[in-house]
Amino acid sequence: MRASALIAACLLASGVSAENYLGFNSGNTLPDRSAKFKKDFKAEFETAQNLENAPGKFNSVRLYTNIQAYSTDEPIEAFEAAIETKTKLLLGIWTSGTDSIENELSALKKAIKKYGKDFTDLVIGMSIGSEDLYRVSETGIKNKAGVGAGPQTLIKFINDYKKAIADTPLASVPIGHVDTWDAWTNSSNKAVIDALDWIGVDEYPYYENGKGNNIKNAGRLFDRAYAAVEAAAGGKPIWVTETGWPYTGPDWDEAVPSVENAQYYWQEVGCRKLFNKVPTFWYNLRDSNPDNEMKFAITKNLSTKPLFDLTCPTKFETPDYDPNESASATTPGATATGFTTVVSTATPTGSPASESGSNGSDSSAEENSGSMGKGLSMAAIGSLALVAGVFALF
Ligand SMILES: *[C@@H]1O[C@H](CO)[C@@H](O)[C@H](O)[C@H]1NC(C)=O
Ligand SMILES: *[C@@H]1O[C@H](CO)[C@@H](O)[C@H](O)[C@H]1NC(C)=O
Ligand SMILES: *[C@@H]1O[C@H](CO)[C@@H](O)[C@H](O)[C@H]1NC(C)=O
Ligand SMILES: *[C@@H]1O[C@H](CO)[C@@H](O)[C@H](O)[C@H]1NC(C)=O
Repeated sequence: MRASALIAACLLASGVSAENYLGFNSGNTLPDRSAKFKKDFKAEFETAQNLENAPGKFNSVRLYTNIQAYSTDEPIEAFEAAIETKTKLLLGIWTSGTDSIENELSALKKAIKKYGKDFTDLVIGMSIGSEDLYRVSETGIKNKAGVGAGPQTLIKFINDYKKAIADTPLASVPIGHVDTWDAWTNSSNKAVIDALDWIGVDEYPYYENGKGNNIKNAGRLFDRAYAAVEAAAGGKPIWVTETGWPYTGPDWDEAVPSVENAQYYWQEVGCRKLFNKVPTFWYNLRDSNPDNEMKFAITKNLSTKPLFDLTCPTKFETPDYDPNESASATTPGATATGFTTVVSTATPTGSPASESGSNGSDSSAEENSGSMGKGLSMAAIGSLALVAGVFALF
């Protein structure tokens, strides 16, 4: 039996479905920091599913928290909107700035009770935390990315979550954690990888200053970081939980935001490498972090006609990934030790948006949550080869 077949069989046995989900990220507040309600989520999900010339159906969404904005532990109204639009849910539990995830678990249990199978059948994954390791990394601290959480804290929360959902239909839902790609390649965080079913990667070549991060090189930077995460992931599936290129905002080293560049990135990273190949949650359908000068939305006002044509080309400019290039001189700061060094000198910051609001409750860190603030994330992806093998079989 080929290794990929074996792994696929194990994934199926453990309830993991080998589907290449397509979706966007959705925080729990609007750009004016007011809460999103069911109608707001529903409008997003309907637009996502009806985008003109989309290379597939964007009928999944990644959330950052189970908690409705500005409530203590009420289920986020995105759940009802997802049920009404049949949108698949990659759930998130916010884990920074707190020593307990009780409110997250309480909101989740209320939702299971209230909506039953209509809700639980839509849940494709659970992420315990978002960029917490990035925020406690050297780069995150330098970028003032906000309060994070270390590996031991995350492992405790993963165990708390498992205990809490053990006798619910969510027990078979695969557990991951989302972080920037260089958090995964940091060996101090290996115990988190060991505790997970899949690895969520946020990866933004745009923010990789000092590496020739012009748009024409974005695909190569993406591939390099992805390969580095793949090497660290030990065969676990990789989900690309955030990636995108801003259409407006300030330049970042050689990276220039523009609609044209956002489209080029969509083609050279999304179409070439991700869509229908790897579970992918693009950043983003609409912007929600008022503090981030870079704007990533691919639509204005949730129009189903995007800022640029989403059609995927059949030919790409990005060269095939060359594993030997990692230690080459094309990467300032790289040394003979290669990739890992490159990776660890990255400047990832978390995600560019403030994704979950909470203002005042326990999870107030959510304000910056997904957010990663002004920074960005770069991330990496996962075992493309493995995933490809799995999909070829099923
Ligand atoms: C956040 O909470 C503060 C204090 O409770 C309140 O004044 C403010 O309006 C809240 N922000 C939002 C967006 O609701
Ligand atoms: C590696 O991870 C550890 C634990 O999360 C963190 O304390 C450390 O700062 C990280 N190293 C770098 C270079 O960021
Ligand atoms: C989006 O909506 C806002 C508020 O209704 C409006 O001012 C703006 O012109 C709209 N933008 C576009 C591109 O339609
Ligand atoms: C990478 O380098 C090794 C050792 O120098 C060589 O054997 C291998 O063929 C190279 N791979 C590629 C894809 O160039």
